[in-house]
Amino acid sequence: MTDRYAVIGNPIAHSKSPVIHAAFARQTGQDLVYERILGPVDGFEGAVDAFRAAGGRGLNVTLPFKLEACAYATRLSDRAEAAGAVNTLKFEGADAFGDNTDGAGLVRDLQGNLGLALRGRRVLIAGAGGAAQGAIAPLLACGVADLVVANRTASRAEALAARFAARGPVRASSFEGLAALRFDLIINATAASLGGESPPLPTGVYQGCALAYEMMYGRGRTPFMQQALAAGAALVADGLGMLVEQAAEAFELWRGVRPDTAPVLALLRQET
Ligand code: ATR
Repeated sequence: MTDRYAVIGNPIAHSKSPVIHAAFARQTGQDLVYERILGPVDGFEGAVDAFRAAGGRGLNVTLPFKLEACAYATRLSDRAEAAGAVNTLKFEGADAFGDNTDGAGLVRDLQGNLGLALRGRRVLIAGAGGAAQGAIAPLLACGVADLVVANRTASRAEALAARFAARGPVRASSFEGLAALRFDLIINATAASLGGESPPLPTGVYQGCALAYEMMYGRGRTPFMQQALAAGAALVADGLGMLVEQAAEAFELWRGVRPDTAPVLALLRQET
């Protein structure tokens, strides 16, 4: 029987995961089907149980279910535990293994696809929600020299910095407090782009910045990317590469083979 996988989220219609995983399966000769599941907002657990009962082997989990997936898992990887969220579930009998491949996907995109070695770099993360929380431990593990978390609601940035302090040099700041600071990498992990806005960073922070990275994708050149380029960032990128890399990481967990991401990323770039 062909193995079944799916992505679950709400909304889900625009997810690119089915296209990515179908391409990985073709490329690696794996026999599987990959579907989309619109999870009911109050019915995540039931939807996952039903998928498993129908023979489902694994799920990618997207908004708004990453915390519920973490609670659902019977076992967690270290990186899922650190992120406090699960984006990948693997089912074996009664076991539901929860992993989080988002951070590894981000790091692979930054270092592999975009060529920015992270060791010793000064990094700014704008935002302190789930997207930021998942990125902090993986970035610290790469040996960044300084990681500043800045957020509109300063207390959330402070809570994140405190949570990860034992893992490396991470500290919190308000947006205004960044004015005199300079960074090699600036990551937009806020939801500002959804509203067509840029996070209110002082424009000076982009001076000398090697890369300004928008974690979202599919929105063209966002206000953050435009501001970064205008204010001195050498390069901008959106999160499409991270999406493909986190998918490859999940595919490897499920199937034991690592797909080649470059042709799949090129295919998606052509389509957008
Ligand atoms: P996610 O899981 O996608 O990170 P979230 O937990 O809702 O979503 O967090 C959204 C983040 O975007 C928060 O850091 C939020 O700032 P607050 O904590 O102050 O709410 C940030 N955000 C959303 N809209 C923003 C805007 N227009 N400007 C700056 N930050 C914004």
